[in-house]
Parts: sequence; structure tokens; C-alpha cells
Amino acid sequence: MGYFGGEQDLAFEGKVFPDKGATKEDVMQRLSDFDAMDVTDIYSHNTIQSTTLMSHLEAAEIAKDANRMFLRRNYLYKELLPGCTQMGLEVKQMVKEMLRFPQDARVRFTSGGSESLYSAIAAAKEWGQQEKGILKPNIVVPYSIHTAFSKWCKYASIEIKRIPLGDDYRADVAAMEKAINRNTILIAGSAPCWPYGLFDDIPALGAVAEKHNVWMHVDGCLGGFQSPFVEKLGQALPVWDFRVPGVRSISADLHKHGYSAKPLSSITFRNKEWEQYYCCSASDWPDGLYSTEAITGTTSAGPIASAWAVMKFLGEEGYLALAKRSMEVKQRYLEKISAIDGVECFPSDLCTMTIRLEKGLDLFAVMGGLFERQSYCLPSFQPPALKIVLDPVTDDVVDTFVRDLAEVIPLVKAGEISIENLKPWM
Ligand SMILES: Cc1ncc(COP(=O)(O)O)c(C=O)c1O
Repeated sequence: MGYFGGEQDLAFEGKVFPDKGATKEDVMQRLSDFDAMDVTDIYSHNTIQSTTLMSHLEAAEIAKDANRMFLRRNYLYKELLPGCTQMGLEVKQMVKEMLRFPQDARVRFTSGGSESLYSAIAAAKEWGQQEKGILKPNIVVPYSIHTAFSKWCKYASIEIKRIPLGDDYRADVAAMEKAINRNTILIAGSAPCWPYGLFDDIPALGAVAEKHNVWMHVDGCLGGFQSPFVEKLGQALPVWDFRVPGVRSISADLHKHGYSAKPLSSITFRNKEWEQYYCCSASDWPDGLYSTEAITGTTSAGPIASAWAVMKFLGEEGYLALAKRSMEVKQRYLEKISAIDGVECFPSDLCTMTIRLEKGLDLFAVMGGLFERQSYCLPSFQPPALKIVLDPVTDDVVDTFVRDLAEVIPLVKAGEISIENLKPWM
């Protein structure tokens, strides 16, 4: 299944698994063929690729080398790996310093933003059960929060109440408060959200969480590693972190604007008190205590090594430069897209931005026309829009995308590009 849920089953003729092994050269050649089939220059959506870091290729190479060096080490067996353990502790300390978290905050590595969100709900569920006797839990979140929240609620049989947004496309805090009842274990907000790049009012949500004594999680998966640097560059951003008293946990993805190899994210608890509910140990089997970093078991130390390498290589200066570049990229999109008739950039706070389409323009025809020109972006449906990810790409990437968009919009309007006459893009 792909991002949009398309079936990807292939019918193979004959066996795929060989009776005899191939030569290294043959294997590498076939891998090169797969590599060549992939889209690697995703204009305006470099976050998908992150390690490509188009404007900073040296950092990308270092991250890749570090990943390869530690790829086969299992971070589960920390007792046997004092080197990896030390490296991991240093990354956790750098996470705290980069994100300005308090020294007694407790960082855990996860396999990505989704697992960090699953972890927050898991901790809140345990807390709700132990401290409030809640057996039929629910969570209250804004409609725009990442859908990984819904996934975990399905797996864990938790009711999720997605509350419609306010007119400003941010969380409607009053409506969320109304939806809280005695079975509510958690409320959450985004900093910023994926669909619109907007911050929810975290201080207001934190106050609600304190008033009703519910767990408060901030989803900083997307913005966590960019916000502190953007602020240092002088752009005011809403307060979104542990400065807000009600916040108990925050997710922030190293494999997004931390620029590590995938898969790597973090969930940080305000302190040990809240971390204790994130129970990742079990011993009810023949092999005794089994204690893990997060929900998953075996974990490669490769991505952690790549995070260590890229953080040390870039330093504060490097992250500031990349944040500055992302802001310049946003400005360039805003200026250039304002000259195209039929589309409008919707202002965002950080990380993503939507390009809203004039009424009547077919979103799929516009996206198809862009895909035909090898300019790729993601759709957003409410309202119909193209999503741009504001990564630190070069001017050329922005200009190519805008050129293609300027070409496609009049063709869609004139009916020359339509769903019926698009070329298949693969
Ligand atoms: C705000 C936000 N939260 C969570 C996620 C999920 O992250 P992942 O794809 O690493 O699981 C994303 C992904 O884009 C995101 O933007």
C-alpha cells in the first residue's frame, strides 16, 4: 500500500527467490536499476528525502556514512555496546540543548513521528488507568492533527474525538474543552500541523489540560528541530514547548529537520515522573526482563549515529543556516506564486504551506500536470490545495516548480490538461 492507499501487488512470473546466489556485481547492478526507477529530486518536497539535503550535500554524505557504519548494531543490546550507548546519550543531550528542553527532561528514541505519537497515547493511557481508573479512554484532538493519532487509537481501542477547527484553521480550544469528559486521558496540539503548517494555541490547550487534569502532548514532529533556530533568527513563533506548564510530552523528528537518516524520531517527557508511565519493560516469558527504548524491539543504531554525525558536523551555526534558507525558500514561493492567476499561497507559520486553488480548478488535473513535468507535491483536500514543504532547497528547485505551476494552471483552465488526457506518470 502506498501513501494514498493504492494497491501495489505485482504478479510475478516464476520464482523470485533464486536457487543459487548471484554475484555481488549482479546484485549491485539490480539495486542500481531500482534506484534509477525512483523519484529522487522531489521538487518542493524534500522532507520525504531529507538526507538528500539539496543545499548541504556534505552533511547528507556524512549522515549516510555514519548510518552505514552502525547499521548492523542492534541498539536493543546497550549492555554490549558502550560506544553506541555513549553516542545515544550524547544525541539525547543535544536534543535537549537544541530544543531548549529542561535538563531533567527524558528523551526516548522512536522509529519515527508515528511511533512517537503512539508512545504519547500509550503513556497517557497507562497514566489514566493507574491514576484515574479510566478503563474506556478517549482522547480529544484538533481535526488537523496527524492521522497517526487515529491509527494508534484503532490499534488500542481508544475513542478519538477529532474536533473541527476554528475559522483560522487552528485548534478550537473552547470546543476541545467541551469535548473532554471523565474518560478523557489526553489532549494534544500541533507545533505546527502537517496539513497547514500552523501552530495550535499550546498555552491555551495546556491551561485546559491542567484544569481538567488530562495528559497534554505537543506534536512537534515536523517543527521541533526548526522552531528554535527560526526563533533565534528573530522570527517570533507561538510558544509551543515545556515553557507551557501543562505539557507532559513532546514529539520531534530527527529524520525531518534534524536531518538524520530515517527512521528516527524522539519523544521527550517533561521529567521522570511522566516517563514512568511509558512502560517499555516486560518479563512474563521464559527469558526474563526485556526492556526496550520504545514500542518497537530491535532497532538499528545507524540512524542514531547519523543524527550524532550531522548534529556535530552542522552545529548551531549549520542548523541556523538551514533554518534561514527555509525561510528564504518560503519568501521566494510567496512572491513567485502571487504572480500566478488562479492560485493563492495560504500563509503558514512554519514548515509547510498550502497553495489554494481557485474554485472550479480540478486539484487532480493540476497535480497530474505537475507530475507530467516531474514537479511533485502532495495534495490537501479541505480546502483543495497543493502542499509545499518548506525545505532548505536551492532557488532552482523553487523556480522549476513555480515555472511548471504557471504553465499548468492555464492549461487546466482551458481544459487542455484534464484527468482524462493525463499521461500515466510511472
Ligand atoms: C506533524 C506531524 N506529525 C507526525 C508525523 C508522522 O511522522 P512519520 O512519517 O515520521 O511517522 C508527521 C509526518 O509528516 C507530521 O508532519
